[in-house]
Amino acid sequence: MKLHLFVLILLSAFPFSGAFAQPVSQQSIFNIVPQPVKVQPARGIFKLNATVKIEVPSSDKEVLETARLFSKEISIPTGYHLEVVGAVAKNEKAICLILNTIPDDVLGKEGYMLEVNPTRINIRANKPAGIFYGMQTLMQLLPPVIENKTKITHENWNIHCVSIMDYPRFGWRGLMLDVSRHFFSKEFVKEYIDQMAKYKYNIFHWHLTDDNGWRIEIKGLPRLTEIGAWRAPRTGNYRSFKVAQPGEKATYGGYYTQEDIKEIVKYAQKRFVTILPEVDVPGHSLALIAAYPNLSCTQLPYPVRVGRFKVKVDNVLCVANDSTWLMLDKIFTQIATLFPGQYIHVGGDEAYTGFWDKHSKDQALMKREGIENTKELQSYFEKKLESLIISKGKKMIGWDEILEGGLAPEATVMSWRGMQGGIEASKMGHHVIMTPGSNCYLNEYQGDAVVEPPAEATLRLSTCYEFEPVPDGVDSKFILGGQGNLWTEFVANERHAEYMTWPRGLALAEVFWSQKDRRNWPEFIHRMEAQLPRFDAAQIKYARSFYQVIITPVKDDMVNDSMRVQLDTEIPGLDIYYTFDNSNPDQFYQKYNGQSLIIPAGAEQINVVTYRGGKPIGEQINMPLEVLKKRMK
Ligand code: ACM
Repeated sequence: MKLHLFVLILLSAFPFSGAFAQPVSQQSIFNIVPQPVKVQPARGIFKLNATVKIEVPSSDKEVLETARLFSKEISIPTGYHLEVVGAVAKNEKAICLILNTIPDDVLGKEGYMLEVNPTRINIRANKPAGIFYGMQTLMQLLPPVIENKTKITHENWNIHCVSIMDYPRFGWRGLMLDVSRHFFSKEFVKEYIDQMAKYKYNIFHWHLTDDNGWRIEIKGLPRLTEIGAWRAPRTGNYRSFKVAQPGEKATYGGYYTQEDIKEIVKYAQKRFVTILPEVDVPGHSLALIAAYPNLSCTQLPYPVRVGRFKVKVDNVLCVANDSTWLMLDKIFTQIATLFPGQYIHVGGDEAYTGFWDKHSKDQALMKREGIENTKELQSYFEKKLESLIISKGKKMIGWDEILEGGLAPEATVMSWRGMQGGIEASKMGHHVIMTPGSNCYLNEYQGDAVVEPPAEATLRLSTCYEFEPVPDGVDSKFILGGQGNLWTEFVANERHAEYMTWPRGLALAEVFWSQKDRRNWPEFIHRMEAQLPRFDAAQIKYARSFYQVIITPVKDDMVNDSMRVQLDTEIPGLDIYYTFDNSNPDQFYQKYNGQSLIIPAGAEQINVVTYRGGKPIGEQINMPLEVLKKRMK
């Protein structure tokens, strides 16, 4: 509400003068994420009220669905039930969803034009997806409480007049959720997809299987979900999860029935999100092998994995075993039917090949086929699997390990161990999705490990925002787009999955949707912060870690083996206050002036906090100097 007031004050202060028409100030009052191609403010207000109708002249089924979805969503906070009609009278207030009869080349399949006038809102697009994205932008022009879960009585549902032209930079804008390491309910998956769609993501990569749990019902293979979906329960830090004990009951887990899958697929379709199902083979297959031990080389019985492997276990499918292929055929036949998208992800990452080396059947296969090493054996596996996937009418995607030993002829590569795999694949004329750990792994710490819940490595919001999916020298036509990945070893519940996703998911949304030259970090921060009240209203958890101080040890060249401390903030405009005497700093303590600090003799820790405009904003970090010293190495 406050934000809305701010908009009005700004507008009355700058009544559309030439000065106001400067790009940055213009758009900073329309806090849209991801940043549209063009935003042109106009005079006046469209007041949304109960009499407004939604006009769908084309009676296109998907556009009608979009209209009904919008009407239903906004009925909760506003109490209005906007009628969806085929035509409105000239003087009636309406939101018109218009499919172009002559396609606009610039807008493509997902672009839209949104024009808000005092009595009309027109959204024009070539395809229903564009209409949907226009509606998402329109939602962001409404006050943040439009996301509220209950009715709001004291709100003016005003939409400022504007003209927006918008289309995406990339056709692949994905988020991946790992539901194997921890299980997430059907309702949560829907909510996750809903939230993604608001920021114009269009791919939900569903990591459905791994060593820690098999999460999809496959008819005729009951052990997959009776055995494979359950592991011994553990709480606390994943790092110290104890392996399953002999005889221990496997009570943690769950899976999605085929009815659940169909429901989620339909839910996603309504939001123009395609689901990319992943069945990770030949490695990461312990849940499958726990259910059907005949599929591995050793054929040893294993429980579904709980924590880290202490010794190497045989979690890899035997390539030479006919049962493996019968199983894969059954699984992928059903996956291909359940998921309407054109792609299936087959994993392929981190497959340990040591058991193939020792297994007579695999060795015989290698000899027969002239395969020189186990990397080539994995390549043989991937190529055979690609034929299977193609025979089901789908295209195959794999993690970049599928490049090793020779890439399957039509495979798309998801580059995660940096950009190199993607670069290589694109140079061979293959499609690529860029999702390097360095910029896209949402499971990593987003702030200082001293105050964040346990995770591994660090990926700050700004590093997400800096991501450039098209490396120099690569033909952009091979880069389908990019993706953020949320692995869930350390993500034990749904609120925490949200916390890890947002706002970094906003930064990546902008990387994948917005034009490269429209990216602007300080301005993004402004628009990103405007989303936070929307998350609050929608009851979605998010991280505020970007307000933290970044504490970096630096070697003191003047004094042997000594350390100084450098303080920074990720976002501009914050003041840092610090203490070395273990007390809690506030704005009356020492203010950091940008110079690295000499550590006073006897100090045990540095305590830091950020303020903005005289108000505390960042979480206080109490950093033991011992910890900092270790980080210097
Ligand atoms: C991966 O992170 N193992 C794809």
